[in-house]
Amino acid sequence: MLSPQLLKPVKAVLGGELIQRFIHKDIHEVVQRMSVMDTFRFLIAIFVYTFLLYQLLKVLIKTVFKGVVKLFVHKDFHQVVRRMTAMDTFRFLIIHFVDKLGVWHRLPVLLGLLYLAARRHLHQRYNLFNVGKTPPGVRSNPEKLPYRTADGSYTDPFDDGAGAQGTLFGRNVYPVDQSKTLLKPDPMVVATKLLARTSTSYIDNKKQFNLIAAAWIQFMVHDWMDHMEDTQQIELTAPSKFNEGCPLKSFKFFKTKEVSTDVSEIKTGSINIRTPWWDGSVLYGSNEQMLKRVRTYTDGKLKIADDGLLPHDEDGIAISGDVRNSWAGVSTLQALFIKEHNAVCDALKKEYGDDMGDEELYRRARLVTSAVIAKIHTIDWTVELLKTDTLLAGMRGNWYGLLGKKFKDTFGHVGGSILGGLVGLKKPNNHGVPYSLTEEFTSVYRMHQLLPNSFHLRDVSVDPDENKCPPIIEKVAMSNMIGHKGEETSQIMGFTALLVSMGHQSSGALKLFNYPLWLRDLIAHDMDNKDRPDHVDLAALEVYRDRERKVARYNDFRRGLMLIPISKWEDLTDQPTEIQALRDVYGDDVEELDILVGLMAEKKIKGFAISETAFIIFLLMASRRLEADSFFTCYFNEEVYTKKGLEWVNTTESLKDVIKRHHPKIVEKWMNSSSAFSVWDAPPEKPNNVPLYLRIPH
Ligand code: HEM
Repeated sequence: MLSPQLLKPVKAVLGGELIQRFIHKDIHEVVQRMSVMDTFRFLIAIFVYTFLLYQLLKVLIKTVFKGVVKLFVHKDFHQVVRRMTAMDTFRFLIIHFVDKLGVWHRLPVLLGLLYLAARRHLHQRYNLFNVGKTPPGVRSNPEKLPYRTADGSYTDPFDDGAGAQGTLFGRNVYPVDQSKTLLKPDPMVVATKLLARTSTSYIDNKKQFNLIAAAWIQFMVHDWMDHMEDTQQIELTAPSKFNEGCPLKSFKFFKTKEVSTDVSEIKTGSINIRTPWWDGSVLYGSNEQMLKRVRTYTDGKLKIADDGLLPHDEDGIAISGDVRNSWAGVSTLQALFIKEHNAVCDALKKEYGDDMGDEELYRRARLVTSAVIAKIHTIDWTVELLKTDTLLAGMRGNWYGLLGKKFKDTFGHVGGSILGGLVGLKKPNNHGVPYSLTEEFTSVYRMHQLLPNSFHLRDVSVDPDENKCPPIIEKVAMSNMIGHKGEETSQIMGFTALLVSMGHQSSGALKLFNYPLWLRDLIAHDMDNKDRPDHVDLAALEVYRDRERKVARYNDFRRGLMLIPISKWEDLTDQPTEIQALRDVYGDDVEELDILVGLMAEKKIKGFAISETAFIIFLLMASRRLEADSFFTCYFNEEVYTKKGLEWVNTTESLKDVIKRHHPKIVEKWMNSSSAFSVWDAPPEKPNNVPLYLRIPH
């Protein structure tokens, strides 16, 4: 037994401070009169009572919340919502409600931006999956490496190897094993009945998006990704019924290399043989060997031929960072940006004199040129692709922040990513997942439909008409513009005719029945950029590739991105011929729909050249390419880029600016349009007096 002496101080505490604090004042007196044991019993009773009440409330709130979720949320999202925090659930409920009404793109600009910000946040949380082991996150010595390395390593200061050549593709949606349905439905049948262009079905993008815009995105793809192949060959054969519709009755190709990750979650992955960073590897290559091939080692410059086009080696192979499976349009852009790089070298040398040797000039000019490319893509190309006020505000917001260019030019980066923009953030942010591009990103960039049947060569020796349009002198089959033949053709045409002709020709629309036939009988390149003996049907191959790489089919892809799936073909398109063709191939099973077909069939948002499904991957990954890269965040400063270099980036706003810098007469004589990515004879855009953030889409 405890002695009363010992119990006294206990009683003092229980009956004193504790009671004062937790017990209602009206019963203080009763408690004061209690023995120590009774006080103790009393407090326990109160505690148990409060605890039970709290648990009951929790269950009640959860039940009500679950009821609300069940009632309002599509059943396919119940599971993901269960994993969300309260704030994320709130965000999700809002975007889901807006999605049900199908109106986000019709909201006033500011509300549209709020919707996109909420969506991007959710995708950063729930749609970034690392493939492979996560490295421990050791900090390298950043002072030693404030430049872009040949293979992309050291671009994330906390994860040296992230985004280097040879790293794995990540995921935005969990992989879906399709080893049993690789040929279901037959890829050749899908290509023939749903993708292929017929002699009359070619649709273009009118004045919105020209052939430079098509070449530009291929120029970017060659900067970002290419899958490593295996040595095992596969052959696809068209079912005899479809022989007629297939340019190749069968074709052989190499399997995608699949490597084990030694991780239980996502067991296998594929390898990116380009650096996924926005580092200009399309010009500089993705490794030391290629970098050596393109550099002159004088004043930091890159090699360019006397005619202003790409130089070639003794085998006729073009010399530039990446020339695999390319065409004259991409080579023209490579040549233009080599000129840009070399002009930056000249400007830096003029400013800083002999203090800067060849190596330093190259490094700084690469940083500047890569940033110019990223900026043009963000605030010029994408704005033309997704031509709405909300996206204009959103893309400019990514670069300059909501406070805008004038504010940023005057005061520098102020605030976080929303107010000040992603570029110039104090530190890179990979959202806890090592940087990579993803399998789903590759799938949504399958845009071969952008390519026309023939290249319309213009006569640039005559005077332009009132819309600055030169006449067509020849329609050259696209098969003569690709690979080695294309390099020869472009040398005959010359830089000016190539660029002006591309500027004045619309690109193909991303729709069903619009896949170029010449790509269904294609000579693809091997790893050394040499022609392969076996031709491929690229349309059928692409369908196969997505399945082989376990990319979810259309409906699961949408579910994975928290987009409402379709339940019938009419949800996807209102075109009866398309619905009939979909039914012919997939029956009524919408779950079987391939991602590539779904992206092409989907009804487009007004002003969007791509589907909403593809756009959601853009929304997530376009920000990530800037935000995760130290050279667009903590190193985007005068110390790393130089004062002159940073000024160069900050004063270049568009592709038109770059063309004007190197070929002022081309812009003056042949470009009527405001953007170099719209068809050049289009009228310049009329000024809009309504402030951007206050606009309401029509
Ligand atoms: C003349 C022009 C083009 C040719 C000859 C060409 C050819 C090819 C070939 C042979 C492949 C590899 C197929 C495979 O084995 O999986 C490929 C992949 C690809 N192409 Fe094109 N292409 C052209 C234009 C474009 C354009 C305009 C885009 C638009 C974005 C594009 C985007 C892609 C993508 C995303 C891939 C997948 C890359 C990967 O697997 O990592 N291509 N192309």
